[in-house]
Amino acid sequence: MRVVRTTDYNDMSRKAANVISAQTILKPDTVLGLATGSTPIGTYRQLIDWYKKGDIDFSQVSTYNLDEYRGLAPEDPNSYHYFMRTNLFDHVNIDLANTHVPDGLAADPEAYCASYDAMVRDAGYPDLQLLGIGRNGHIGFNEPDDAFSKGTHLVDLTESTIEANSRLFDSVDDVPRQAFSMGVQTIMYAHTILLIASGEEKAEAVRDAILGPVTPHCPASILQLHANCILIADAAALSLCP
Ligand code: F6R
Repeated sequence: MRVVRTTDYNDMSRKAANVISAQTILKPDTVLGLATGSTPIGTYRQLIDWYKKGDIDFSQVSTYNLDEYRGLAPEDPNSYHYFMRTNLFDHVNIDLANTHVPDGLAADPEAYCASYDAMVRDAGYPDLQLLGIGRNGHIGFNEPDDAFSKGTHLVDLTESTIEANSRLFDSVDDVPRQAFSMGVQTIMYAHTILLIASGEEKAEAVRDAILGPVTPHCPASILQLHANCILIADAAALSLCP
């Protein structure tokens, strides 16, 4: 894993956006795997800024998001569909038909998960997969467990994730208890993985992910086995790494 240490969140965001930007310049029909959450917002803002300056073209790019809450409609402001539209898609020249976020309302979760995986596979898997990391080391919604997950699946969210994500909802009771998530195996099929992390509250997870044993108890630790994984993290997130 290549580790890039940045001074702060803005520096992390700019450097991550640089990697994504380079990828789309080198391969205009790039397949991007995308994440939601607080961490990538600055990266998306930077990409929008460069798009507006004429430096990036998303017209041929296609995207596959990692996850979506079960039960939330795309127009729900807490849904990841809504997040992606407001934080990126509505501000750049991407063709919405080429953007994919798991359907939180899928009636037959098992069949839906299989079809999402087939779609990602048929797209050739992401050239570049952007990932954030949870305080418990989760990637996507793959929570610490006794085994690594494989394909897209329905997840029961842990109390710690529900608690962490409740900041965006009116109350903790409004946070959905389940989500659709790409599995660890699907994530690992991406050709390049770009993991971003910021802030002291991520320091333990980052340390365990890059220096600890490879274990499903810290799902992000599997990234040590990926041939082309880049971590861009600020000094606070790397504060427990020598
Ligand atoms: C979101 C996702 C999650 C987040 C993680 C960190 O699509 O896949 O794994 O990346 O929960 O979230 P933030 O960035 O809000 O700290």
